[in-house]
Amino acid sequence: MMRINQILPSEITPQYTWGRRKFILQMSVGLGLALPNSARSAGDNKTSLEKLEFIKNKAYSTTESTTEFKSATSYNNFYEFGTDKSDPIKYSRNLVTKPWSVNVHGEVLAPKRFDLDELTRIAPIEERIYRLRCVEGWSMVIPWMGFPLSKLLKLVKPTANAKYVEFTTLYRPSQMRGQKTSVLDWPYIEGLRIDEAVHPLTILGLGMYGSVLPNQNGAPIRVIVPWKYGFKSAKSIVSIKLTETQPQTTWMVASPKEYGFYSNVNPGVRHPRWSQAKERRIGEFRKRDTLIFNGYGEYVADLYSGLDLKKYF
Ligand code: MTE
Repeated sequence: MMRINQILPSEITPQYTWGRRKFILQMSVGLGLALPNSARSAGDNKTSLEKLEFIKNKAYSTTESTTEFKSATSYNNFYEFGTDKSDPIKYSRNLVTKPWSVNVHGEVLAPKRFDLDELTRIAPIEERIYRLRCVEGWSMVIPWMGFPLSKLLKLVKPTANAKYVEFTTLYRPSQMRGQKTSVLDWPYIEGLRIDEAVHPLTILGLGMYGSVLPNQNGAPIRVIVPWKYGFKSAKSIVSIKLTETQPQTTWMVASPKEYGFYSNVNPGVRHPRWSQAKERRIGEFRKRDTLIFNGYGEYVADLYSGLDLKKYF
């Protein structure tokens, strides 16, 4: 049923035939200064954030208007800093994000710990303007700077047993005050099936709005999976583990009836406590209809052919 069992390690490469057929990457040179490797600042003030050099990826970007920088950086979910939307901007200032490394391990032939400078050089940094739909019913449109996760995974050579990818956020209660509470089981863990993880839409984000990520948005590196509810996009990650079995994700552990492993945006599948049919785009008054797979169905629906999306929510 799940295509995952048919995937060979040799297929975990960017050679997506359907991808090449459907999208010819139209890249053009974007603005930006070449300062990707020096200080990575915290803060909410755009001018205090180091600029990133990037190329625009128009093929994968929506042309909808983007959410204001101020809203995208002051209305956040990052429970490591508290459960209020305004907590992350208030309490993430002192998070130290330099030095930083991400350990890529598990079912791979060439495990490796990558430091941030190495991560910024794996592939050209692209601007991807993606919709982000939060499970709570609001949405934003954010210009991310990042590169396909598949490029990193290819470097560590996944084994034939690698069927899932598990992402772990930093655990540092001294700088993440929310981790001193038991609101969630720390550290924050998320996961994807490997075919989802290597899908060309899945990126590792290093920045937004032309600059490095502010701390409240998951500095210095996070996952971005635009067709799934926002909570799948784990922030401030320190580990990427390839596994044979499905990871136990934080939200599934917290409330298994409410949060499934897949968490694909789906207006037809209710959250037990509310409908998912509509959403409010931050900055707009009227609600709009939520789209299946957050509007990315033409790219990702194939991943779930034969899967009962009501059962595997
Ligand atoms: N990652 C971690 N580590 N902790 C979190 O609480 N919240 C998630 C996701 N990633 C969260 C996280 C949720 S619910 C959403 S909607 C998005 O981050 C929000 O991302 P943004 O604040 O950059 O818009």
